[in-house]
This record gives sequence, C-alpha cells and structure tokens, in this order.
Amino acid sequence: MLRQALMQMSKSARVRHLVETAPGSRQVVRRFVAGAGTADALRASTQITSSHRLVTLDHLGEDTGDVTQARAIRDAYCGLLRGLADAGLAEGGRCEVSLKLSAVGQALPGEGEKVALEHAWDVCQAASEAGTTVTLDMEDHTTTDSTLSVLRELRADFPWVGAVLQSYLRRTESDCKDLAGAGSRVRLCKGAYDEPESVAFAAKAEVDRSYVRCLRVLMAGEGSPMVATHDPRLIDIAGALAVQNGRSQGSYEYQMLFGVRPDEQQRLADRGEKVRVYVPYGDQWYGYLVRRMAERPANTAFFLRSLATRG
Ligand code: FDA
Repeated sequence: MLRQALMQMSKSARVRHLVETAPGSRQVVRRFVAGAGTADALRASTQITSSHRLVTLDHLGEDTGDVTQARAIRDAYCGLLRGLADAGLAEGGRCEVSLKLSAVGQALPGEGEKVALEHAWDVCQAASEAGTTVTLDMEDHTTTDSTLSVLRELRADFPWVGAVLQSYLRRTESDCKDLAGAGSRVRLCKGAYDEPESVAFAAKAEVDRSYVRCLRVLMAGEGSPMVATHDPRLIDIAGALAVQNGRSQGSYEYQMLFGVRPDEQQRLADRGEKVRVYVPYGDQWYGYLVRRMAERPANTAFFLRSLATRG
C-alpha cells in the first residue's frame, strides 16, 4: 500500500520539485548514487573493483522526451566506455554498463523503438571496442515486448548483450525459458515498478516463489544467470541451485545495488563468488531514488525526513 502510494505521489511535478530541491535529498542520493559525472563513476568503479567485486554502470536518465537528449545519453555511454577502457577497467567485462532503452529514445512517439535500437547498437559497438558488455535494464510492463525485441536484434551482432527479467511479472517464467540458451545473460530481479495485478503478482510471497521458479530455469539452462537481489533467502537458494546444477563459481553471478548490503557483497566476493555492483551516476536521479525508497520502509522514512528538512 505504502509502496503504491509513494509511486503514485512521485508522479506529481510538485512532489518531484520538492524532492529535487530538498537539502535532505542530497544525503539520500549520496547513499545510492555514485556522483554526478563520469569521473565519479570511474572513481567508484576503481574502488569497487579493488575489492574483487565487478561493476555495472547506469548513466541515470529515463523516459527521454526528445531525440537530442536521447543522443546525448548515447554519447555519455560511449564516452564512459572509452573512459573505462583507458583506465583498464573494462577488460573481460570487469566493468560493464546497464542501459535503459527509454533513456535512448524508446518512449519517443512513432519510431521510438527504432531510435532506441540504433542508439543501443552504438553503445554496444563502443562496449565491444572497450572489451566489455551491455545489459538492457527492464522498465514497466508496457515496454517488455519492445525491449525483448530490441534485445533479439542486438544479439544478432553482439551475442553477449544481457537482459533483465522481473519475477513479479506473470509472463517471466516463460521468458526465462526462451532466454536460457547458450551464451545468454539474464539478470533476474523482483521488479521495481508499480504494476497492475492483471500482469503482475501482488503478494511478496508470490513474487518470491516466482523468483525461485525462474532461477530454477536459468540455473538449469546454458546461459549465465545474474542473481540480482539482496534477499538472503533467495541468495541461499541460488547457491544451492548452482551446486545442484553442477555449476562452477563464475558461471553465474550475484548482483546488488550500490549502497545496499555492501558487507554481504564483500562476504560473497571473499568466498570466491562473482559479485557485481550496480552503480548509478548522473544528475537524473529522481526516478531511481523513488524506486529505492518505495521498496523498503526504512528507506521511505529516510526519504520523508528529507522532505521535512527542506529549508
Ligand atoms: P526485497 O526488496 O523484497 O528485500 C528482500 C530482503 O532483502 C529484505 O527483507 C532484506 O532482508 C534484504 N534487503 C533488501 N534491501 C535491503 C537493504 N537496503 N538493506 C539491508 N537488507 C536489505 N528492477 C527493475 O524493475 N528493472 C531493472 O532493470 C532492475 N535492475 C536491477 C539490477 C540490480 C543489480 C538489482 C540488485 C536490482 C535491480 N532492480 C531492477 C530492482 C529490483 O527489481 C528490486 O526492486 C530490488 O532489488 C529490491 O528487491 P530485493 O530482491 O532486494 O528484495
């Protein structure tokens, strides 16, 4: 209920302005976002990789409303990938990038999907030159078919492109079956958008059960599952399924968000597991921050205090 109310409230332009200008917001943002520019992203990547964790970088931005902005986001990704290569951080996929198609044009009227595909192709080409990979983030359910269709097109030229699937969607077990083949990279998460019950499980227990069903498919498949969750129970189940399926460490990976359970990230990495941290950076942090606040009551309290300290 609280989650839904917060997601609804966050759509108001007034609330957005209030949050973006509240001094307390900066404190919250610093916890979840690595900084505003490429230099901040590179600094965070250097620090994280020095403790044997891997990185996926997200240049914040979504629902881009014009093609000029979509091109600017594509260029920012290409510049970031050159920076990662120059710093020796990209090789072997040590630091890769996560891309939201709506940031590079998917939401534009008319030819949005085509524009997003062209921009995403350029980002994949830059990643290929840098020696690393790209994973397509998944947004609300109205974009799932389009994102999976862009994924198919990109994988024809760049077979290593990864995708995110969300266990709260009723369709996802079937999508996992389609995407569990050789060479595939699927990041499984619970899902962070406000979705109707017609397409998504509403109860947390159902979302978790779906997560386990999807994990079973991916771990038994021929691809590289990316277990994106902070949930201790699901992390244990993923480990058990990896053993059951005879998978070696490194044939799958754990993924968590920047600023969330860093001790657990390190514990898994120290055990020899592959652990990747999702690191967002940039000044378009509003949508990302609202989703982080909505998924955890402790974060929500932090968020509301930030509004109260506006002064
Ligand atoms: P959930 O929020 O249900 O928490 C389960 C348990 O985990 C808690 O009870 C607690 O024990 C522990 N936990 C969670 N947060 C914690 C915290 N802050 N501190 C301590 N313990 C905590 N979503 C999406 O829709 N599209 C996408 O593309 C992505 N991409 C993505 C990438 C990566 C790498 C991650 C980790 C997540 C995403 N997500 C996402 C977000 C995802 O869908 C989901 O909203 C969040 O990961 C929160 O869900 P959890 O699986 O962590 O469980």
